[in-house]
Amino acid sequence: MKVGNPRTSGSWQGLGRSPNRSFCSWNKFADEVNDMLVPMRAILAAADKYRYGQGAFNMNSVGQIEAAVRIHELLHSGAILQGAEASNAFMGGELDFMHGTIEAKKVGAKRIGDAVKRYGENSPVPIALHLDHGKSIESVKACIDGGYTSVMIDGSSLPYEQNVELTREVVKLAHPYGVTVEGELGVLAGVEDHVFSATSTYTNPMQAVDFFKKTGCDALAISYGTCHGANKGKDTKIRREIAIATKECMLHEGIDGYLVSHGSSTVPQEYVQGINALGGQLENAFGIDVAQLVDVARCGINKINVDTDIRLACTRNLLELFEKEPELRESASIGQLYKDLKKNPKNFDPRNYVASIMDTITLGVVPDAHVQKVVDCMKDGVTESIAPLLVQFGSYRKSHLIEVVTCEQMAERYKKAGI
Ligand code: G3H
Ligand code: 13P
Ligand code: ZN
Repeated sequence: MKVGNPRTSGSWQGLGRSPNRSFCSWNKFADEVNDMLVPMRAILAAADKYRYGQGAFNMNSVGQIEAAVRIHELLHSGAILQGAEASNAFMGGELDFMHGTIEAKKVGAKRIGDAVKRYGENSPVPIALHLDHGKSIESVKACIDGGYTSVMIDGSSLPYEQNVELTREVVKLAHPYGVTVEGELGVLAGVEDHVFSATSTYTNPMQAVDFFKKTGCDALAISYGTCHGANKGKDTKIRREIAIATKECMLHEGIDGYLVSHGSSTVPQEYVQGINALGGQLENAFGIDVAQLVDVARCGINKINVDTDIRLACTRNLLELFEKEPELRESASIGQLYKDLKKNPKNFDPRNYVASIMDTITLGVVPDAHVQKVVDCMKDGVTESIAPLLVQFGSYRKSHLIEVVTCEQMAERYKKAGI
């Protein structure tokens, strides 16, 4: 295992940006298989060097985690799996997950961490587990304790100096553990976790450079025209020049960091039509055209966040299941789930209709064949939504380009580099 070059004076080069070893063959890589999760930085370094996009996918159940690991393995892609604040609360058993307690988040973060390790153990592909839209130091600590190898601190709704201060504090906390830190600058329109923003404020490329310098963060989410959720607008044109300018400014200033695109679901129309054909009422549901995401990945966007597509696919699959097998609507074990699924035709977030099978969702317990059918629908939803994106974004067959590095080794590098 090679450790990166020492920091060159005045820049952050050498922190694992260019894996400094030869990658000979698939077999050679397989010998070096990780039995642990890698810091997200290692996965982003390869995406940056080889100019492809690395999808990052939000997980909200044990079954989804199993399926996500498997599809990344089948497609020989590195994996970034994410748990958002609300996911941690939900996986901790909190049904009011948007207002989850820190206690529930601690439990949920550990369950997600354990599930990723269970299915990712001895995996032939490097896997990172990342906190998405972390809001507090307490949450970050809960995730590091739970086995996350990367955390986002989203201070984008704060005044700039406070965002810098909060992010810097998280970097100080996380880097000694070798844990990667993602910050956010600029506000996306739509639902920003708990914050609703009707308008977006695009990221200022020069301020992004200042932010990297002042905070020492590894990655930065920028606002450039994407937005969270299923209503991104028809024919949305993202501001690729913001991504390009930010990356160029970073290169000029020797910033060894990575850029992240949030709100990047493509909202496949077959999912929307499938849901609406079976009683759903999704209006104006449109995503980002995948060709634009492929384009920005070549221009310096390294990580592409997707959550909504997975929710849509899972919901469509469950509606189809109950359509094809109507007797399941009366099932003792999943009849209640059907009622909850049909309660709100505008809802496509599975967390709002799976309260009756929480042990299955949070612990992976499958008591009978009917529950197994639900789990299979969710797993298929993950597989079918993620697989094409791994191919299109370009991480397909690139796992061998990722340096296998431990958090301990990364911590050593941060220490040497003084960040
Ligand atoms: O960017 C937000 C993600 O889609 C996470 O959503 O907070 O509802 O889990 P959530
Ligand atoms: P979507 O709502 O477009 O899937 O965005 C997900 C995201 O940005 C997670 O952080
Ligand atoms: Zn996001």
